[in-house]
Amino acid sequence: MSKTYYLTTPIYYTSGSPHVGHAYCSIMADTLARFHRLIGDEVFFLTGTDEHGQKVEEKAQESGKSPQDYVDTIDLEFKALWKKLGISYDAYIRTTDQKHKLAVQKIFLKLYEQGDIYKKDYEGHYCVPCEAYWTDHQLDEEKNCPDCGRQVIWLKEESYFFKASKYADRLIEHIETNPKFIQPVSRANEMMNNFLKPGLQDISVTRTSVDWGIPVPFDPEHKIYVWIDALPNYITALGYTDEHDQLMQKFWPADLHLVGKEIIRFHTIIWPIILMALDLPLPKQIFGHGWLLFDNDKMSKSKGNVVDPVELIDQYGSDALRHYLLSKVPVGNDGNFTIDLFKQSYNTDLANDLGNLLSRTVAMQERYFQGVVQNCQELTEEDRSMSELARKTPEIVLSAMLVNDFNKALAAIWRLIDRSNKYIDENEPWVLARSEDKRERLGTVLYYLSENLRYIGVLLQPFMPETTPKIFRQLGLMGRTPLQTWQSLETYGRLPQGTVMVKEEALFPRIDLKNKKAEQNDRAKAQAGKKKEKDKGAAQKMETEKQEVETENILPELKPQITIDDFAKVDFRIAEIIACERVPKADRLLKLTVKIGETSRTIVSGIAEHYTPEELVGKQVCVVVNLAPHVFRGIKSEGMLLAASDDKDSKIIILEPEKRAESGWKVR
Ligand code: MSP
Repeated sequence: MSKTYYLTTPIYYTSGSPHVGHAYCSIMADTLARFHRLIGDEVFFLTGTDEHGQKVEEKAQESGKSPQDYVDTIDLEFKALWKKLGISYDAYIRTTDQKHKLAVQKIFLKLYEQGDIYKKDYEGHYCVPCEAYWTDHQLDEEKNCPDCGRQVIWLKEESYFFKASKYADRLIEHIETNPKFIQPVSRANEMMNNFLKPGLQDISVTRTSVDWGIPVPFDPEHKIYVWIDALPNYITALGYTDEHDQLMQKFWPADLHLVGKEIIRFHTIIWPIILMALDLPLPKQIFGHGWLLFDNDKMSKSKGNVVDPVELIDQYGSDALRHYLLSKVPVGNDGNFTIDLFKQSYNTDLANDLGNLLSRTVAMQERYFQGVVQNCQELTEEDRSMSELARKTPEIVLSAMLVNDFNKALAAIWRLIDRSNKYIDENEPWVLARSEDKRERLGTVLYYLSENLRYIGVLLQPFMPETTPKIFRQLGLMGRTPLQTWQSLETYGRLPQGTVMVKEEALFPRIDLKNKKAEQNDRAKAQAGKKKEKDKGAAQKMETEKQEVETENILPELKPQITIDDFAKVDFRIAEIIACERVPKADRLLKLTVKIGETSRTIVSGIAEHYTPEELVGKQVCVVVNLAPHVFRGIKSEGMLLAASDDKDSKIIILEPEKRAESGWKVR
């Protein structure tokens, strides 16, 4: 019997157009949904939009539309983007859906009637854009909001409160006894130590200052505040409170709520206690992913660095974006996005590795055997080891995907791609083709490559759904679904002899990086131009920054020449950062624990002004391991992390391997 798998994305705010950060979250969720379908689970994948609140009201006003017209427009933008990205949701919920609104009112009423919601006067520091109250100690001296940095106001209003405190102990126990409930584990510790253990306050759940919201059914002046409106979407979409709620019976509790790190608190504290109050089981897991940064900076409209995913997709295809985000952004941590990194990854992984493997294999099959797959003859040791790698890859992908580790899953698939490319170089089919008596061997070599490509195609389906049908078509497997299933990977060698391959255009035509500088300038100019329309001052600043960057590009004075032997004295290794913390009373220092092969050691590094401990954990870096130890602030540092910096050390960027490597590998 198949297992059910219910997964959700957050519902996205309709206060602005979707950007690549939203796309990141939906791409991860879609990949999981497709993966679970592939392994035979019955999947229910929910996404949608969060459409109420003051911000939406203001945005609507700015654009001269009614709130409903405004959210309708933004909602279409989200749907269009999901279509372009192949997001295969099973249901889409909008908080303005009549069905959702009624269900939220019923939930509110139930909680009120059972005494979990009560009314009282409330006053405090309130941030209008964030729609949040803050306590004195959360604000800085100028009384600015800790979230958005804007000035708060003093607001007094009557509000309904939810008795969160009543459920706190039960929740603490649940978190302690279910280590998989909040993932990654670091987020669970954060929730416990920062919010639950210090004691949970009751939560204000209505506003009178907002018009655009769901009215409290028995007191319509009060609007149900966003979280109590938004969070229940995960059950109202399944028909909770309906007479016929078969979906609820079948799919609740959810297997996974995938959410960004800034909203993990709402999902691991408020949402579970609402469910406890409703006497419903808690979701099995809440996974908090990191943020996508642009040039290591937070993406924001005011900075003008918001990446429009539509432009990227139109130019490079949706799978190129999916591949980059799933393979290069470390799951659970923040990851960087720059156009240059994206293009490099496209050329290396997609054009060179995957694209070339397919085009070389199919081209040789056509050239030497009119495209017809031959029989596989006598095996060499090398054939065996390669097919063994293919056979093992699904297992690795499965175990990685069961813990939402997209990086690891794709790295395993790419190992098979790399191994197959190497196999071509080792066997030199073009040399075999010169002798008639090597024809059988030639057929066998091409068989192995083609069967590997079938494995790669099957495994890549959840990650790159636009590309895999093209791979199957070229392999001659279009419409032959039994050869595209997860089960078909149980036996290596299922690709039938006689299959006819057909070469088509390149999967990923290379991007010409030669005119990079010119392109960069064009882009900077285009960006400056765009921004100028809105903000001339900011555009000028960008222009100056661009010039500064160009000045920095002039190579500073070089050190005296060294010999290769001098260079060989330095032992550089790939290391993985497994823990990291600030060094007390040292603003610039971080204490890192790095794993190098089977060993680990401590390194103190002066990068605390440029990286937070959370974003470093999990990263692979390059380390000098034979440097004499040095003690900083009482901590013995055994090695040095490689980083690039400008002259003044005002910008520091650590060096990471371009692909995931094994920790301990030599760098030379
Ligand atoms: N409406 C709430 C969620 C309610 S769920 C019951 C919300 N919406 S949001 O549009 O602001 O964010 C939706 C998701 O997009 C969040 O998980 C958030 O982390 C994610 N992202 C928005 N910008 C992002 C990046 N730059 N990078 C990665 N994800 C980010 O919060």
